[in-house]
Amino acid sequence: MANRPLPASATRALSRYAPLVDDLEAFLAACGRPLPVCGWMNPSRSEKEHRASWEPMAPDGIRYRTLPWRPAGIRLDTVPSMAESIAYRAGLFHIQEEASLLPVAMLAPQKGERILDLCAAPGNKTAEIASAMGGRGTVVANDRAASRLGVLQTTLDRLGLPNVSATALDGRSPLWPSDSFDAVLVDAPCSCDATVRKSPRAAAATSESERQKIATMQLDLLLNALRIVRPGGRVVYATCSFAPEENELVVAGALDHIPGIRVQPRALPGLNHGPGVTHWKGVSLPGSLAHAVRLWPHLSDSGGFFAVLLIKEGPAAATLETPDRLPPSENPQVASVMSFFEELYGLPDGWTDSLRGCIRASKGLDVVRVDHTPNLPFDVISRGLCLARVNGRVPKLTTQGSLFLGSRITHQFVTLDRSQTVRFMKGEAVTPSAAHAVFGYVQVRCHDLPVGVGLYDPSRGILESQYPGSWGGLGRPREACG
Ligand SMILES: C[S@@+](CC[C@H](N)C(=O)[O-])C[C@H]1O[C@@H](n2cnc3c(N)ncnc32)[C@H](O)[C@@H]1O
Repeated sequence: MANRPLPASATRALSRYAPLVDDLEAFLAACGRPLPVCGWMNPSRSEKEHRASWEPMAPDGIRYRTLPWRPAGIRLDTVPSMAESIAYRAGLFHIQEEASLLPVAMLAPQKGERILDLCAAPGNKTAEIASAMGGRGTVVANDRAASRLGVLQTTLDRLGLPNVSATALDGRSPLWPSDSFDAVLVDAPCSCDATVRKSPRAAAATSESERQKIATMQLDLLLNALRIVRPGGRVVYATCSFAPEENELVVAGALDHIPGIRVQPRALPGLNHGPGVTHWKGVSLPGSLAHAVRLWPHLSDSGGFFAVLLIKEGPAAATLETPDRLPPSENPQVASVMSFFEELYGLPDGWTDSLRGCIRASKGLDVVRVDHTPNLPFDVISRGLCLARVNGRVPKLTTQGSLFLGSRITHQFVTLDRSQTVRFMKGEAVTPSAAHAVFGYVQVRCHDLPVGVGLYDPSRGILESQYPGSWGGLGRPREACG
């Protein structure tokens, strides 16, 4: 990809990092290059779809290589519009900048944990955490800006992750219970100058007073995270800023405030990165901060990022005590929708065993994993996946429900070829190539790949598209900053 000369203002602003980089010229040149497009394959899709997943990407025009340091991480060599990629819309992979994969790699989520993503919107790292946990356990995705959490739900729906609840509280709030999560991610609001490869204007100089304001907010968020995490638990603090004032100095401030916090090294074989900074503008910082990880664009041909893993010392429980798995739902309406779907779609015995359903405002049947237990003293704004709409005469499978149930559906599906699928996704009626269905709502597949729901009328051989208009505009998700 061609170099794009950095604006003089960006070059001036980034030159303040000259004492930290090994080769200023290479650093500035890399900051002017367009960013490679990266992402990750979605392991939450069943074996069958996952095996099939390698096929549908090629007809979409996508060629990719795997990343050496991040399991299932990919770098795309050819990148069509994600809106036109059937594999993307079917949730087989997610697009996320390589540098932004660093914090969750440092956090290393484990199955069965309770994890809080304190500054989550638009939710790329939440999706990574939820996926790394195999779609089980408890992820709480919080952001102060509730309006920015809608994108998160679309991502979780597309990827089929029923183990996330969203909350919209200030991350500094004392309402968060102490010692209540196994791990907390603080992907903090920041000056974003390390996103310069996406947007040269991001590197414009930040004033000292503005940086101070940001750093105060960052320290307050980190201190709260260290209170919220359980003894023995992990906190990853991360930013997409190069500035030591927003990174190592914030962490040093937290280490000063709270005793018993350890900076933990995390090996990332295959990733070329720099160490954390221990001297800046005449100030010496704790030597352990060298265990932090800095991604410099010229070292890894990525964006810039900072991340550090902190351990709250104390008697460590293997995982946090949480109530036992939730009992299966006792709501008769939930049970009746589940058994209606079981029969209509030929679902296998026990398909609901790991799920608990609840009816939301009499309109939707949401499902969460039975081991998903947010246990918060305030309301969540959304939870799990909406499997069905229940405000009509018959329960209607949703698009995300169709993707989530995947190949467990054995009746009541129709098959389209690629060009029919593109028309179906644009909302047009089509005549399926093959149908195993009676009149009603059917799962729609592109060849073997579940892609949505339609209303099928066998007497006319017509499938009416039920593809959500809001999914029609799925583009490449933008990384948020600030
Ligand atoms: C860098 S972005 C997070 C990106 C996100 N983790 C991802 O991977 O998609 C920082 C987020 O912090 C949120 N934020 C800012 N101040 C906050 C606060 N006091 N409490 C919680 N969230 C806050 C912003 O709304 C913004 O969405």
